[in-house]
Amino acid sequence: MDPQEPTVRLGTVNDVAGVRSLESRYFTGNLSPEQRADGFLSIIQPEGSFERIAAAGGLHVAVDDAGQVVGFIVIAPPPKAGQRTPSPIVERMVSLSDTLEYRGRRISSYRYAFRGPVCIDERFRGHGLYGRFNAVTKAAYRAEYEIGILFVSARNPRSLRTTTTKLNAAVVDTFQVGDESYHYLVYELGVPPP
Ligand SMILES: CC(C)(COP(=O)(O)OP(=O)(O)OC[C@H]1O[C@@H](n2cnc3c(N)ncnc32)[C@H](O)[C@@H]1OP(=O)(O)O)[C@@H](O)C(=O)NCCC(=O)NCCS
Repeated sequence: MDPQEPTVRLGTVNDVAGVRSLESRYFTGNLSPEQRADGFLSIIQPEGSFERIAAAGGLHVAVDDAGQVVGFIVIAPPPKAGQRTPSPIVERMVSLSDTLEYRGRRISSYRYAFRGPVCIDERFRGHGLYGRFNAVTKAAYRAEYEIGILFVSARNPRSLRTTTTKLNAAVVDTFQVGDESYHYLVYELGVPPP
């Protein structure tokens, strides 16, 4: 029998332990090469970051009927000048935002959000939860942001497929950090700019 569909709601600091447990389970360094075929997280977020994001209203979670976190998604503003970034990947994206363009405008000239990480417990993948996360976050943040930006590892075809076909994000660049390649994607989060 299919597990009962989880509930999607705004996350709070009380959900962070569950979010961290999923993050750890699906972090690339904790998966075998076969498991990575179903997607993986490239970054462990710095200590305290999920608490800050939740307090700012940027965390959504999916919880099962026992109250366990089985998925999460983050939508957050870009780091402010001088603020610590969660990783060299995010740092590179912030600087690329000043040169890359989307629909004829520099990305940093938009009101833009960072989207991600997003992660779903394998028991609930392929159940439409990804689409529900997209709908709920668009409704929640469309007045605040015009576009969202995100990265996907070039070795994560499952995530590339969902972001391009289900979120309708467009790859605007591919960049390298260390030995790894990442796609830089943009999607329309709010009302399309004039
Ligand atoms: C990425 C993730 C959030 C997507 O959620 P999901 O519930 O798995 O998404 P769906 O099942 O709705 O869609 C997955 C799609 O990828 C396709 N797919 C699965 N494996 C694939 C692969 N190896 N290569 C290409 N496409 C693949 C599926 O066929 C499906 O497409 P379809 O619905 O058109 O047939 C989830 O897989 C996940 O949490 N993965 C681990 C963490 C992760 O990768 N996060 C994103 C980091 S950028």
